[in-house]
Amino acid sequence: MNDSLPFVIANLKANKTWQEIEVWLDEVAKTAANFPGTVVVCPSYPFLKVAALEIKSASWRIKLASQDVSKFEQGAYTGEVAASQIKDICSYSIIGHSERRRNFGEDDQTLTVKVQNAIAAKLMPIFCVQDENTPIPHGVEIVAYEPPSAIGSGNPDTPENAHIVSQKIKEKGDHTVIYGGSVDSKNAASFLKKGIIDGLLVGKSCLDPQEFTSILASIK
Ligand code: PGA
Repeated sequence: MNDSLPFVIANLKANKTWQEIEVWLDEVAKTAANFPGTVVVCPSYPFLKVAALEIKSASWRIKLASQDVSKFEQGAYTGEVAASQIKDICSYSIIGHSERRRNFGEDDQTLTVKVQNAIAAKLMPIFCVQDENTPIPHGVEIVAYEPPSAIGSGNPDTPENAHIVSQKIKEKGDHTVIYGGSVDSKNAASFLKKGIIDGLLVGKSCLDPQEFTSILASIK
């Protein structure tokens, strides 16, 4: 991966109006400007284009990712968003988040097709796994280790276990591995200190821009 580390992703999920995202971007951009790694934000689909324009015109050091991508390419798939439709406005796509696996029945086969579509469109997948046994499709560079019990629960994995699992994932291939699951400004640094985990995927704690900038400040 060419982007600098640590790689920190704010997954806004189905939260925030455009007005609130503008405020968020404005606030986070100040800290992102001096952050040595890569800051990525994932707003909902309708806001990707306008966020891309705003980031470009302000020259902010923030990149964009979609929270998902369709398993279909363009065609008669009502409600879907194809990789080729967003490839010019974002750099990455989260694929296989456990909320997608659980709520939308996404299985390993579907996720492999999504990864293939993303790569074909030159969108870099950020592929989420539950543990070291989750199959990782061919071509995935960035893997997010996210134990389901840690997501949104306030019960993060221990840094020790996260290091062990991340090391095992790295042994499976040439992967950049990030950790996600109840990361906040108090525990963020503990996951990165050994140099095994390359970044963080942040959900709930990214919604408050001040808490998210505190996370960035704690790990730079
Ligand atoms: P959380 O979410 O930080 O709220 O646990 C992480 C994620 O879903 O990626």
